[in-house]
Amino acid sequence: MAVYPGSFDPLTYGHIDIVERALEIFDKVILAIAHETSDASKRSLFTVEERIEMAKEVFEHLPNVIVDSFKGLLVNYVGETNARVILRGLRATSDFEYEFHMASMNRSLNIHLDTMFMMTSKDYFFVSSRSIKEVAALGGAVEGLVPNLIARRLKEKFKLPLTKEKQIGWEY
Ligand code: PNS
Repeated sequence: MAVYPGSFDPLTYGHIDIVERALEIFDKVILAIAHETSDASKRSLFTVEERIEMAKEVFEHLPNVIVDSFKGLLVNYVGETNARVILRGLRATSDFEYEFHMASMNRSLNIHLDTMFMMTSKDYFFVSSRSIKEVAALGGAVEGLVPNLIARRLKEKFKLPLTKEKQIGWEY
């Protein structure tokens, strides 16, 4: 079992790819959605309840993915599960410093936990929740980078015109 923590604000295909690949290694993956992050300047677009709801819908077909949320220190949360591994995705060397710092801090807080990194697939190395929000806010297309249900929620958040499919009542 591994805990995959993050803001997931919102979940992207980059995150989903990591979860699907992690399921080849671990029997269960807990997607742990943080109420707050270490970066105080980061305000979330979606509430934690909205992020949980979207993630549950996205992973509905994968019973070995448990969607949960946590408050406070990640190591305390992971310590309450049976997991000993914290899973994180790495897109580029620019992610390394932040991740190395976080993994080292977590290990100094709890020596029994370790962080495992997976390289993001080449198809998603440029995808981040931050860029998805920026593109969506400016009316750009994010379909193909996030699941359709999330693209729709982004449009609603930014009060952009709904797609034709939505207007005629398509569910996707
Ligand atoms: O997706 P993100 O925003 O990069 O995820 C960061 C997250 C939520 C994993 C990190 O901020 C976190 O673990 N926050 C909980 C507080 C904590 O444990 N901080 C100590 C680690 S430096």
